[in-house]
Amino acid sequence: MPSELFKGDEAEAVAAFVARCGDQPGLKNCKPVKGGLTGDAAKGQDGFADLGCVGCHWADDTDPIGPTFVGLHGSKVKLADGRTITADDDYLVSSILEPDKDIVLRYARGTMSGRVQPGFVTHGQAKQIVAYIKTLK
Ligand code: HEC
Repeated sequence: MPSELFKGDEAEAVAAFVARCGDQPGLKNCKPVKGGLTGDAAKGQDGFADLGCVGCHWADDTDPIGPTFVGLHGSKVKLADGRTITADDDYLVSSILEPDKDIVLRYARGTMSGRVQPGFVTHGQAKQIVAYIKTLK
């Protein structure tokens, strides 16, 4: 892997993902999804990997750097400012396009935006990733 691709904690998270999923593709959240995804969800799954989201959002049962995507769509999310919102399409798209707009309780501001600045992900890519998130139940 090129040395500049992932740094520090991210490299560790990717290594942990590979260690966890590498020989066990059947584990939850270790794609490929049975039967394969199609359309926007499939493109979103590719974006999730290609844009580096997988480095922080891969886990559902251990200690991920960012919140898990499994079961996220439609769930209630507690934010650091005390509000509780429903993770609908609009919230998810804006969380991707403007990572510092809403901060999830117990996570640090700046962790995601250090890697994903506004403009890094296009609106179209964000919608595809949201379609992918919807498949993770
Ligand atoms: C460097 C680690 C990191 C990377 C890379 C990263 N994120 Fe995040 N993400 C976080 C953290 C930490 C949070 C929680 C804090 C916050 O709300 O900003 C978060 C929050 C989110 C949320 C809101 C989740 C919730 O539970 O409400 C979404 C959606 C999201 N990220 C999508 C993405 C997508 C899509 C990508 C790839 C383009 C990505 N993230 C890349 C760390 C990361």
